Amino acid sequence: MNRGEARRFALAKLKANGLSRAALEADLLCTEAFGCSRESLLAYPEEPVAPGQAKQLVSLLEARILRKPLAYIRGQASFWRMDLEVGEGCLVPRPETEILVETALEFFHRGRFLDWGTGSGCVALALLSERTTSRGLMLEKSPAAIFWAWRNLRRTAFQDRALLWHGSSLESIPSSWIPLDLIVGNPPYIPSPEIAKLMPDVRLYEPHQALDGGPEGLDDVKAILAGARRLLVPGGVLLLEIGGAKQVETLRREPAEGLDLIRVKKDLSGKDRIVVWRHR
Ligand SMILES: C[S@@+](CC[C@H](N)C(=O)[O-])C[C@H]1O[C@@H](n2cnc3c(N)ncnc32)[C@H](O)[C@@H]1O
Repeated sequence: MNRGEARRFALAKLKANGLSRAALEADLLCTEAFGCSRESLLAYPEEPVAPGQAKQLVSLLEARILRKPLAYIRGQASFWRMDLEVGEGCLVPRPETEILVETALEFFHRGRFLDWGTGSGCVALALLSERTTSRGLMLEKSPAAIFWAWRNLRRTAFQDRALLWHGSSLESIPSSWIPLDLIVGNPPYIPSPEIAKLMPDVRLYEPHQALDGGPEGLDDVKAILAGARRLLVPGGVLLLEIGGAKQVETLRREPAEGLDLIRVKKDLSGKDRIVVWRHR
């Protein structure tokens, strides 16, 4: 078998199993199995495929057909022009979370920030890369996610400006980091009854503690709102990613003491996605 034949085989397998971006995914799985770039895969279709590589391709295809996320299979995901290592135990960074970073940068120019629920570390690392004198506290409850956040943090030049902190509440953060200029977070915000309706890639593989936000999806959002004011400097900002207009309505109905909701930003599909509060 050569690379061209392997590509066609992979494409047919993925299509037959209902994968929607089959052509791109077939190429990426081939590059993973053959240890080559996509350019070389396309440029040298006659290149023979070694038996070990063919076997590896079949096992990657099987994993993808069982809906293991492509990012987990490849062990990497792109976020904010960075290649991050990801795997089971941490959420795969999503494009809409780049809007969280973009919005945070409008409000945050220097100082100290907290990234609540850092997961892969994507939000904190993006902010540290853009605000080169800032310092970031990366709070995470899941040891499995901390494993990935650390793998990503240690490959950067920001280690002396960041602290990866194992904890599950705002009360757990070290007092030396208070007050903060910014709290940013992408907490679990999917309402529990909707978890069963998620696509299998997400529902079967990504950690439920990164997704499930309780009955309305707002359990963690409300806990953060309740504790944020105590941690922020006056004028400091809290930005959270949330899951749509219904959640914004609830948050407007139940204002947090000492915090003004100053902005709601939509994602590219027009869904309310980022909410910004300012400490009075
Ligand atoms: C939606 S994921 C976001 C991960 C990452 N920030 C991103 O945007 O890709 C939520 C993260 O919050 C973590 N988490 C959930 N509850 C937490 C808590 N009480 N305290 C700290 N982290 C928590 C989860 O383990 C998960 O890594």
